[in-house]
Amino acid sequence: MFNYLPQGLGVANELRNRRNVYEGYQRGWGLQYGGLREKILSDSLYQEAYEVAKDRTIMSPDNRMNIFLIMRFFLGKVPFGHIVEFGSYRGGSAIFMAYVAKQLYPGMKVFALDTFEGMPFVDKRVDAHNSGDFSDTDLISLQARVAELGLDNLVLVKGLFENTQASVMVQGGGFSLAHIDCDIASAVQYSYDNVKPFMINGGYIVFDDATVSSCIGATEIVEDLVIRRDGLNSEQIWPHFVFRIFK
Ligand SMILES: C[S@@+](CC[C@H](N)C(=O)[O-])C[C@H]1O[C@@H](n2cnc3c(N)ncnc32)[C@H](O)[C@@H]1O
Repeated sequence: MFNYLPQGLGVANELRNRRNVYEGYQRGWGLQYGGLREKILSDSLYQEAYEVAKDRTIMSPDNRMNIFLIMRFFLGKVPFGHIVEFGSYRGGSAIFMAYVAKQLYPGMKVFALDTFEGMPFVDKRVDAHNSGDFSDTDLISLQARVAELGLDNLVLVKGLFENTQASVMVQGGGFSLAHIDCDIASAVQYSYDNVKPFMINGGYIVFDDATVSSCIGATEIVEDLVIRRDGLNSEQIWPHFVFRIFK
């Protein structure tokens, strides 16, 4: 595949403080200022994956494009690992990632975790969302869509992360991409803390919501745990936070 990422950005292309700043600029600056959106929109793999996912996702276009760039151009540079998503709602972003993974990385699975019944308990000291938000979903019809699309690499896991994540981590073994898209503090904390030990070297953790105005609970976890406690610097802050896990 022709690599249409911006090149020669005048920044060192190397690891610095456990992330590659250059690669972060390629995606973030490329999308925001460097004409990457148009290039992605004319990429047939993006077009196909979006076509099968578009009626089921509320993910913003820039966030989806950034995930696409990570999968298209960067996952092949780190050791093999599966993908896990915390917060799948109607399954759109999981279907999108599974479609792309199936084309690019044979054997790579996408584990999609959700109650599939809406938000559980929330902490009203910090979460704007309410219990029961996102309950307009239907696991049976999602399963039927996944089967119809032949996405045998997509594993739908129903239940609270607190009840399902441990067995998924063991089943998957190692993860190259974790998409944390669950909006509320407790869920972001639980998923991050429990996926981190299972990330492969150089793997990507993407926080969909931590820079979104309605998700300060997610922001607080990134500030308190990822940055302050674990001392990580981000590879991207736009369109969403991206961190790398190096052992
Ligand atoms: C913003 S939605 C996900 C959007 C989705 N990725 C998309 O493409 O449209 C957030 C989801 O997180 C789920 N969630 C939040 N906390 C959870 C928990 N502790 N266990 C399981 N699911 C949880 C909610 O049920 C909700 O469906």
